[in-house]
Amino acid sequence: MSRALINKYNIAGPRYTSYPTVPYWDKSTFSLEQWKDTLVRSFKESNLKEGISLYIHLPFCESLCTFCGCNKRITKQHSVESPYIKAVLKEWHLYLELFDEKPIIKELHLGGGTPTFFSPENLSLLINGILNDAVLAENYEFSFEGHPNNTTREHLQTLYNLGFKRVSFGVQDYNETVQKAIHRVQPFENVKHATELAREIGYTSVGHDIIFGLPFQNLDHVKETILKTKELLPDRLAFYSYAHVPWIKGNGQRGFSDADLPSAELKRTQYELGKELLAEVGYHEIGMDHFALKTDSLYKSMEKGSLHRNFMGYTASKTQAMIGLGVSSISDSWYGFSQNVKQIEDYYNLLNQDVIPVYRGHILNEEDLIIRKHILNLMCSFKTEWSYNQDNLYFDELPETLMRLKEMEIDGLLNINSNSIEVTKKGQPFVRNICMAFDLLLQRRQPDTQLFSMTV
Ligand SMILES: C[S@@+](CC[C@H](N)C(=O)[O-])C[C@H]1O[C@@H](n2cnc3c(N)ncnc32)[C@H](O)[C@@H]1O
Ligand code: SF4
Repeated sequence: MSRALINKYNIAGPRYTSYPTVPYWDKSTFSLEQWKDTLVRSFKESNLKEGISLYIHLPFCESLCTFCGCNKRITKQHSVESPYIKAVLKEWHLYLELFDEKPIIKELHLGGGTPTFFSPENLSLLINGILNDAVLAENYEFSFEGHPNNTTREHLQTLYNLGFKRVSFGVQDYNETVQKAIHRVQPFENVKHATELAREIGYTSVGHDIIFGLPFQNLDHVKETILKTKELLPDRLAFYSYAHVPWIKGNGQRGFSDADLPSAELKRTQYELGKELLAEVGYHEIGMDHFALKTDSLYKSMEKGSLHRNFMGYTASKTQAMIGLGVSSISDSWYGFSQNVKQIEDYYNLLNQDVIPVYRGHILNEEDLIIRKHILNLMCSFKTEWSYNQDNLYFDELPETLMRLKEMEIDGLLNINSNSIEVTKKGQPFVRNICMAFDLLLQRRQPDTQLFSMTV
């Protein structure tokens, strides 16, 4: 990949897990009542057809990794588990009161923080509490994020018995210097042990998260990490670009300086090298950041054209409604988004008053819905088309959009057809930049300060 292209397109840009992106939500017109209305509408339209998805955020971690951009609370006090689980179940019941039939659960994901901070008994209480008032969809998919340093056989077995068949482990990088810099010392043996245990118990998809662009990371480290990954051959891999977002309050990313980070060019070379090595091992790239073996459901879904992207990243099936429970979780009713308060104390306070603990959100208008569809198409299948009969937004008639797309076409990133665009192989690493051309909210109001991580 040419240095000129990297220099030109490495700008701050959204990762498009939603459209509109969170900084562009219109919070002034948002209300909890409207959010509930859009959710009830979506639930009625889709529950019986495809079911709903649940994301549950479990924020506690025993130790702080200094690269981490997730919402977490560091503590060694396990007495926090029980009140938190009670609060999540209370939130679930507040949602259940809105519906006149039992939710059909198609997908359930436990994210964090560290879900395996919680004891298997408490995780059992949580899942049974959720499922007591719900029905399971056919081919339901339950998954969770495990920390290789504290995932035990009991965790894996308990969750497997509850219906979990997919787990992903945070690996990041195997090199000791990098691990020390990010305050996450985690020997290969721990990952090997957790991966093998999961397989032995019967998990059908084991994933690893690895990251490029970390402090002190060089090409040899990326190679070493992928060679070790090859030994364990996870079914799925997230190969994330390190998102350096030190302005997020309390994320503790200041344990190293900017000078310790690889340059944009080295970062892109790390990605290219990683991609090449992963292809040699048999991994196929899925949209942005993700790789899977041919046998994994994510790959099969991409082949079928049913890949979907939401706040959890890429998923193998689409549901119109996704409810996020727990502190900081985001919910998506397709017609609206909402986010829960980020502080655990605020979360408890609102729930104690029987209030769904949402603090901000966005209700989508007609224009948002059209753009959302195109951005989703681009992120999931690298192409999108518009019909002059249905869409009232003609992207090729919007001078700004057309100008940006034409320039990208000249750079070989995409092909423009009469009513569609297709991203080329060369353009795939720049898909976020291409989505930005469609993002009319961003075009109309460029941020004054840096809101997003760099696209490369
Ligand atoms: C919630 S953690 C995974 C579960 C568990 N807490 C652990 O660390 O093993 C989710 C994943 O997000 C990714 N992640 C967190 N912060 C990131 C950042 N700043 N840039 C890129 N990826 C990040 C990491 O790969 C991490 O494994
Ligand atoms: S990477 Fe995982 S364990 Fe580390 S602080 Fe973030 S959520 Fe916690």
